[in-house]
Amino acid sequence: MSDDRYREIARSLQTMGWLQDALLRQARKRVVEHLRKRGVVTALDAGCGAGTLSRYLSDAGMSVIAVDRSPAMLELAGRRASHAQCLQADLSRLSLSRPVDGAVVALSLHEMTESQRVEVWRALQRLTRHGGPLAQRRGHP
Ligand SMILES: C[S@@+](CC[C@H](N)C(=O)[O-])C[C@H]1O[C@@H](n2cnc3c(N)ncnc32)[C@H](O)[C@@H]1O
Repeated sequence: MSDDRYREIARSLQTMGWLQDALLRQARKRVVEHLRKRGVVTALDAGCGAGTLSRYLSDAGMSVIAVDRSPAMLELAGRRASHAQCLQADLSRLSLSRPVDGAVVALSLHEMTESQRVEVWRALQRLTRHGGPLAQRRGHP
């Protein structure tokens, strides 16, 4: 999707984000628990959007790098997940000074083309220390 589209989505999340957060809360908590049980201390929230999952990961004690290529989304993430390090970048070209313990790409892969998905997944594998990246495909059980 285009940056313009994500700018519109970011605008609507400012008023309706609470509803999305309520619907996804349990699913996001499960992601946090999954990473926590695997001893993840440094986490990459890949395609962080408005930063709610980043916030949950930070609240669980993890050191979080929140990455999104949309400036509008990242601005929301900076406000919502104020303890996370927010980076504006395309995930397929992301480089970090050191690998993270775990990476999660939540509810984002379906918005990418097949070739983008492959590139992003390879980048996440390269940036993740052990266990590989985790993809959350659906918000609901
Ligand atoms: C549907 S939102 C998901 C947001 C968040 N992960 C969540 O669970 O609420 C998808 C996000 O992925 C980001 N995104 C898509 N492709 C990307 C890429 N190649 N690099 C960085 N961010 C990307 C978009 O900008 C958007 O904010």
